Amino acid sequence: MILRERPVPDSTPPQFPLAIQYCIRVAIRSDVRKLEWYGSHSHTRRYIERAFVDMTKGRQLMLVADINGFPVGQIYMQFDSKNKQHADGRSRGYIYSFRVIGHLQGLGIGTRLLRTAEIELARRGFRYAVLQVSKRNEAARRLYHREGYLVIDEDPGQWSFVDHNGMERHVDDPTFVMEKRLAPSL
Ligand SMILES: CC(C)(COP(=O)(O)OP(=O)(O)OC[C@H]1O[C@@H](n2cnc3c(N)ncnc32)[C@H](O)[C@@H]1OP(=O)(O)O)[C@@H](O)C(=O)NCCC(=O)NCCS
Repeated sequence: MILRERPVPDSTPPQFPLAIQYCIRVAIRSDVRKLEWYGSHSHTRRYIERAFVDMTKGRQLMLVADINGFPVGQIYMQFDSKNKQHADGRSRGYIYSFRVIGHLQGLGIGTRLLRTAEIELARRGFRYAVLQVSKRNEAARRLYHREGYLVIDEDPGQWSFVDHNGMERHVDDPTFVMEKRLAPSL
């Protein structure tokens, strides 16, 4: 039998609503591989693993946005750092590795992750949230401005990391350093 495809009418296909529940929670061990997002972020494997180990030692916190057990968004907080402008273990906490999986961007998940990270920092007594954003990333900068972050400094953004294949990768991406004064936690 030969199946012939019907000609597709030149109009928008029917649209169906989809309501999705998600939660924001602390990352667990089984998230670590999933956070590579099917290979698109495998190059950050060591980063993710190190953040998780640091979290078990109380030095960091990793939050994920979870849909059906899969982490579709992430944000990490570092409590102390060599760079005391970023994090000093007391007053300033550093937010990094903030991202939402591509097809779920622009739906409010990132804003909620960011606000939850700020609450977690404030709960631990931090008075400022600090982050860096690429000078080229205008969309993220818009989000940070809207959420009350101000530029306090610039950084040449030159650093290196070792990827999942053991290759050293160099990053050359100038950034703005931004901070937000956090409302004290009740
Ligand atoms: C930045 C990011 C985490 C925000 O999460 P999100 O769930 O898309 O954000 P929300 O839906 O809560 O808010 C939307 C706002 O985020 C910003 N944004 C940044 N990148 C965006 C993207 N690719 N798609 C949609 N919004 C984006 C915009 O300001 C947008 O507001 P707008 O409607 O005025 O353009 C996410 O878009 C992302 O992962 N982007 C790629 C990685 C990245 O740039 N991370 C930040 C590094 S500093």
